[in-house]
Amino acid sequence: MLIIFKYSCFLLFSLLSFCVPGKSNRPNVILIIADDMGWDDVSFHGSNQILTPNIDLLAYTGVALERYYSHCVCTPSRSALLTGKFAHVTGMQGYPLTNAEDRALPITEKTLPQYFKEVGYATHLVGKWHVGQSRVEYLPTSRGFDSHFGHRGGYIDYYEYTLLETWSVGDVSGFDLFRNDTAAWDVEGYITDVYNKEAISVIDLHDISKPLFLMVAHNAPHSANEGAPLQAPPELVRSMRHIDLPQRRYYAAMVKRLDDSVGDIVKALSDKGILDNTIIAFISDNGGITSGMSVNYALNWPLRGLKMTPFEGGIRVNGLVWSKNLTQGEHLWKGYMHVADWVPTLLSAAGLEIPSDIDGIDLWDSIVSNRESKRDVIFEIDDYTGFMAIISHDYKLITGVVITNYSNHQGDMFKGIIGTGPSYEDALRNSTLYSVLSDIGVPFEMSDTSLRNKIKISCNMDKSNICYPSNGTWCLFNIKEDPCEIIDLSSKYPDIAEKLYSQLKAEIKRMIPRKVPHEINLQAMPSLHNYAWDVWHASEGNF
Ligand SMILES: *[C@@H]1O[C@H](CO)[C@@H](O)[C@H](O)[C@H]1NC(C)=O
Ligand SMILES: *[C@@H]1O[C@H](CO)[C@@H](O)[C@H](O)[C@H]1NC(C)=O
Ligand SMILES: *[C@@H]1O[C@H](CO)[C@@H](O)[C@H](O)[C@H]1NC(C)=O
Ligand SMILES: *[C@@H]1O[C@H](CO)[C@@H](O)[C@H](O)[C@H]1NC(C)=O
Ligand SMILES: *[C@@H]1O[C@H](CO)[C@@H](O)[C@H](O)[C@H]1NC(C)=O
Repeated sequence: MLIIFKYSCFLLFSLLSFCVPGKSNRPNVILIIADDMGWDDVSFHGSNQILTPNIDLLAYTGVALERYYSHCVCTPSRSALLTGKFAHVTGMQGYPLTNAEDRALPITEKTLPQYFKEVGYATHLVGKWHVGQSRVEYLPTSRGFDSHFGHRGGYIDYYEYTLLETWSVGDVSGFDLFRNDTAAWDVEGYITDVYNKEAISVIDLHDISKPLFLMVAHNAPHSANEGAPLQAPPELVRSMRHIDLPQRRYYAAMVKRLDDSVGDIVKALSDKGILDNTIIAFISDNGGITSGMSVNYALNWPLRGLKMTPFEGGIRVNGLVWSKNLTQGEHLWKGYMHVADWVPTLLSAAGLEIPSDIDGIDLWDSIVSNRESKRDVIFEIDDYTGFMAIISHDYKLITGVVITNYSNHQGDMFKGIIGTGPSYEDALRNSTLYSVLSDIGVPFEMSDTSLRNKIKISCNMDKSNICYPSNGTWCLFNIKEDPCEIIDLSSKYPDIAEKLYSQLKAEIKRMIPRKVPHEINLQAMPSLHNYAWDVWHASEGNF
């Protein structure tokens, strides 16, 4: 009886929403993700070397998230973003997925697009996936997205869309750009522009009787394959001649196109007439990688450490949220937020029910009304590398094995500017977003750029006693007073260190161990699949 009642209500409801023409009243949600972009690579954080006027204007007229944390690698952060759970809880922590692993975000986990789809949103992914691609049921279109156009693995070449893996049999390359379940061999162009065009087309073609959830997960500014890791159109690289380091010019050009795309996407929303009712978030998936494996010359300066480390440079990353409702506020939120908090925060922003079995915390009201954060514990656990870290009430404990080469302060040598560099104010005025904001009547004054001084981090860089953890020892930092993680407080506050360590030990009990990476399955070999990194494992039950 109840079921019949529910069903008829559902019918009536569907009928009503079908019959009533016009816009849906749920807000649209656009999530833009940069790949391996450093803390110091957006100009609203204070640097004049690489200018990101479109991203900055979203911060100046929205809310910059000063203490936004992610996991330190792609697969873990994307898993947490999609599920609202810490990566170690779903077994997705540590070393990122390779295309030859038969492993994925467990299909028992509900994803952010699934939550939105369930209540009638159109859901689209443009760009990177990287939480499983060996089986059909692991693909975005099996996990809540109506459509996917993009790469399924860690990165692709910016023009050839290939990804190279090094197996024991040698280097193995394959094509990794797909339209839903089909390799997109016909595509031409620079991948950031290709994704930009696709995102705009999704917006243009969107049926506004439904709300829209669109995730744009750019390849940029991740490095491409070894041999040609940094790629950008030559004229764009030429426009970066104020930058001293040649590699950093390429990187800056990669970031510039990403920033342009942010402006274009907001303009498309405005042209479509739906910007007023849209929430936009821009985040980095993890810190930049200034040297070593997959180096892209990103800078996390002055934060300590790189991608793949639990230091601030690996996990404290760029984040902001924008909506027309936020344009009158404080523009800077100082509370802690973790990537797992987006699920409940965005669902809450859309007036939807929040699941209770997740780690994420709904921070929407705190952000909107500039109140204290309800997030006070953050974990960064990687059982493959062998480290674990916890942040609680401004204290951070790191213990275990870290990659020493990635755990120092890097990149002060990369900051050189030749001459005065381009004018920041001109860059803002020239940007697409500047015109969009003026079209929709959102006030912006040049004096709003003072946010840069409020968010800029400066530290005393005396590193003579810098602490490195090991298996059996730890470092304790106060990351509010010492955001650069230089002064070890573990002998001063042994009780705090002990308490945090016992919290970590308790949390470890929830961990699903990461399976050994590099478990290469030869069935994945692209030459067996028309030279693409296509689905290579039959689905359960198909044997
Ligand atoms: C993916 O499939 C959906 C559903 O069939 C379709 O509407 C959409 O256009 C496809 N997307 C692409 C990029 O081909
Ligand atoms: C802005 O606030 C109004 C009133 O609370 C709400 O109806 C609307 O959904 C909000 N828009 C967005 C994009 O959050
Ligand atoms: C850390 O030490 C423990 C106990 O000695 C050992 O079992 C573990 O394998 C070590 N971990 C690493 C990553 O070296
Ligand atoms: C660390 O750096 C040293 C010196 O550059 C290098 O020889 C070593 O292979 C690096 N180790 C790792 C784990 O990257
Ligand atoms: C802004 O646009 C003007 C006119 O096109 C151009 O001369 C100038 O170089 C641009 N400046 C920046 C910083 O983009």
